[in-house]
Amino acid sequence: MSQTVTLALSKGRILDATLPLLAAAGIEPEVDPETSRKLVFETNHPGLRLLVIRASDVPTFVAYGAADVGVAGKDVLIEHGGADLYEPLDLGIARCRLMTAGRPGAMDAASHRPLRVATKYVETARAYFARLGRQVEIIKLYGSMELAPLVGLADVIVDLVDTGNTLRANGLEPFEVIEEISARLVVNKAAQKMKHAPIGELLSLFDQRERRAS
Ligand code: ADP
Ligand code: PRP
Ligand code: MG
Repeated sequence: MSQTVTLALSKGRILDATLPLLAAAGIEPEVDPETSRKLVFETNHPGLRLLVIRASDVPTFVAYGAADVGVAGKDVLIEHGGADLYEPLDLGIARCRLMTAGRPGAMDAASHRPLRVATKYVETARAYFARLGRQVEIIKLYGSMELAPLVGLADVIVDLVDTGNTLRANGLEPFEVIEEISARLVVNKAAQKMKHAPIGELLSLFDQRERRAS
């Protein structure tokens, strides 16, 4: 890669799952991003550097070209809108489901008023309940959505479910699947043209890893 490619990752699951993929291709960050307070990491590959940012900011950095490529959950991409990005590859990592959930029977409890829905996925939830023809009041939260039905803040939540342990631990049950979620590689549209060769190289690296794993 003669041109430098900037890859945006997020701390937590995406970084945990992506660093081993890079390592298998011989790419190592200069220092460990899991422990460092740095936000930009050079790698032993002169053509690749990493940004470590908030998961929900990855589409924004890539859409504006501040990063050429990013790894983001499908949940984050749906909420972002996504039309300003290419999404060439499903990495098959960080798999879970975006679901409605609540106390048993919560969907039917509020029949004479709008259903109160707590979520960080405001746009996705609004679109989902509009498709159902259900009147809702959306309450934006930034985390711990499972708490909302327990303290009377909301009737139901829209959140990610993997093992179901968090729902069970809080006496909630899953209702409907809105989307099957996994992490995707996204690419800036201009960079796809201007840095076609090095981005293609990075994509094939991820693609091979994915085929070997499945
Ligand atoms: P955040 O701080 O935004 O919650 P996470 O690392 O928890 O960051 O989540 C990053 C992405 O990983 C999410 O956008 C989603 O696609 C996926 N994810 C989140 N929670 C889970 C989970 N419990 N199991 C599997 N994948 C998950
Ligand atoms: C995610 C998600 C759920 C939980 C689901 O939270 O928001 O709360 O995982 O996983 P489970 O079905 O296996 O219990 P996370 O652990 O990322 O916590 P945070 O985003 O609030 O930091
Ligand atoms: Mg999380």
